[in-house]
Amino acid sequence: MQTRRLGPFTVSAVGFGGMPLSLAYGSVPPWEQGLLTVHAALDAGITLVDTADIYAPTWDTMGHNERLVAEALRTYPGDTDAVVVATKAGVTRGPGETWGRDGSEAYLRGRIEASLLALGRDVLDLWQWHRPDLWQPFGEVVQTLARFREEGLVRAVGLSNVNTEQIELAAGILGPGGLASVQNQFSPRFRSSRQELELCGRLDVTFLAYSPLGGEGRVGLVASSFPVFAEIGLERDVSPQQVVLAWELAHGDHVIPIPGATRPATITDSARAADLRLTDEEVGRIEAQFT
Ligand SMILES: NC(=O)c1ccc[n+]([C@@H]2O[C@H](COP(=O)([O-])OP(=O)(O)OC[C@H]3O[C@@H](n4cnc5c(N)ncnc54)[C@H](OP(=O)(O)O)[C@@H]3O)[C@@H](O)[C@H]2O)c1
Repeated sequence: MQTRRLGPFTVSAVGFGGMPLSLAYGSVPPWEQGLLTVHAALDAGITLVDTADIYAPTWDTMGHNERLVAEALRTYPGDTDAVVVATKAGVTRGPGETWGRDGSEAYLRGRIEASLLALGRDVLDLWQWHRPDLWQPFGEVVQTLARFREEGLVRAVGLSNVNTEQIELAAGILGPGGLASVQNQFSPRFRSSRQELELCGRLDVTFLAYSPLGGEGRVGLVASSFPVFAEIGLERDVSPQQVVLAWELAHGDHVIPIPGATRPATITDSARAADLRLTDEEVGRIEAQFT
């Protein structure tokens, strides 16, 4: 499978997003199905698994997805040494399913310790600040992230749900190679983050495209709203979703889409997009549909 650089790591060009296995709009699939789905992702050659402390069915089961990913890696019959697990924190969940944000050093440090426990690790591979906390000066939190790395709690740091100004500021504070990744939403129906994607390319920061198929429950809508993906899929004998992911990959070597899945069949199909190269003519046809 085609690989891409992610901070100090080399990972598959398509990652796996664990969220729907633990935090779904409908019901969360059985644990065993989650394990099989992660195993299918690994079988397909995926070596990047994205999770977060809040990916859990309820506020008092935080860490659910991290524990699931840890068990899937532990029980996988093959070699998992090359698998990079990316997790996040900074979004809060509390009694009554109240959601918020907390970027204080004490809170983030506590969540890193919880993630280390849930994932059964001594150090986290990639740790991402999930969403800026508007009550904390952004630059100060970025300095805290640098400290977490210096202390050896995390090997690489990333940001999520950030704008171009925040990316520039963080890249300046963390210095060359200090900001491994930015994880923002990007799909045919959510293209406004293209400016952040392009900035990441210029700064040599990996861009992790989340909800790359349109987000759970909207995958069919994307296919019907933008028929060009199905047309090209038919011509190339691949699914429309593979064409969507291949179009995202065509934005640059720094882009890694992280599709979610609750079934082995869907993640197996999505993984194939890593080796699907669209021609300039196909990319042009897709872009023409957006104008
Ligand atoms: N940083 C953030 O704030 C943030 C926010 C949202 C998501 N994320 C990350 O991004 C990941 C992906 O986002 P997402 O799960 O919201 O949305 P998504 O990847 O756009 O869509 C997930 C859905 O796509 C379906 N699917 C996957 N591959 C398919 C294929 N080849 N053909 C047909 N259907 C396919 C899955 O179906 P099945 O369920 O049937 O398998 C699943 O329902 C998450 O898991 C999470 O790791 C991050």
